[in-house]
Amino acid sequence: MKQGIDIPDLPLAEGKTKRIWPSSMPGQVLVESKDDITAGDGARRDLIAGKAEFATETTANVFELLQRAGIPTHFVGRFDDRTFRALAVEMIPIELVTRRVAFGSYLKRNPGREPRSTFDDIEFEMFAKDDANHDPLLEIVGDKVFQYRADAPIGPDTMLDVDEVDESKFGLAPAQQQRVRELAISTFGILEAAWKDQDVTLVDMKIECGITEEGEIVVADVIDNDSWRIWPGGDPDQMVDKQLYRDGQSLDYVADKYAWVAAATGQFNRGGQ
Ligand SMILES: Nc1ncnc2c1ncn2[C@@H]1O[C@H](COP(=O)(O)OP(=O)(O)O)[C@@H](O)[C@H]1O
Ligand SMILES: [Mg+2]
Repeated sequence: MKQGIDIPDLPLAEGKTKRIWPSSMPGQVLVESKDDITAGDGARRDLIAGKAEFATETTANVFELLQRAGIPTHFVGRFDDRTFRALAVEMIPIELVTRRVAFGSYLKRNPGREPRSTFDDIEFEMFAKDDANHDPLLEIVGDKVFQYRADAPIGPDTMLDVDEVDESKFGLAPAQQQRVRELAISTFGILEAAWKDQDVTLVDMKIECGITEEGEIVVADVIDNDSWRIWPGGDPDQMVDKQLYRDGQSLDYVADKYAWVAAATGQFNRGGQ
């Protein structure tokens, strides 16, 4: 429940890791993180005390950095320890994934690729936000949206679905597709440089975008320690992100790393400009 007499008790939306609340400010919402950590499209779920605060701190630091760099985002400002103010947007239900290092599910789709080899140009992929179907890979070609299993090489036998762009909830017009790609790649570049200052390798990440009331595509949702793989010293054995939880590390160890990441992102907006 959010404080304030004008704010109802029911969230506008609730997902695995956050709640969206109405705001008394027109055109805005409040984005509250929860203490939940999940893996396997929600199949595993635990609570980590303090995760909501770490997530909010991380997301606020990241969005402040992106905004200074000129990336349009839905972020308006911090509200409380676990909540930030954002523009109300219509979410595009697509996970926009960018990669510098070949790792994770990318290797299942591209078994010929050497694990941990790097891409000269940031790699970009789109996945449907569809937990029930394990977030299929999306390819938009002409006026068709193709969906493929994300855990195997793309081919006729791994195609799950094909729809008209106009009729699919995952359909994007060419200009929109170009824009979300640009935003995802620029976001990766900015965060990669910020992490590099602390000798941390940004391996890969995902963002989600939304469309404002004015029709502008902006980076939305959150960018927190669930959103990326980060390797201090470029060493996967030192990973500090959600992969630790996927791999079954103790919750205390995971909590400790989330706290470290939240504090480290505080450096993103120190010094410089
Ligand atoms: N600025 C925003 N305006 C409206 N909805 C948003 C905004 N930012 C994020 N959301 C939505 O909030 C919901 C809850 O987030 P989350 O817990 O991550 O859900 P999920 O489990 O579906 O990933 C999602 O549907 C997400 O798209
Ligand atoms: Mg989410």
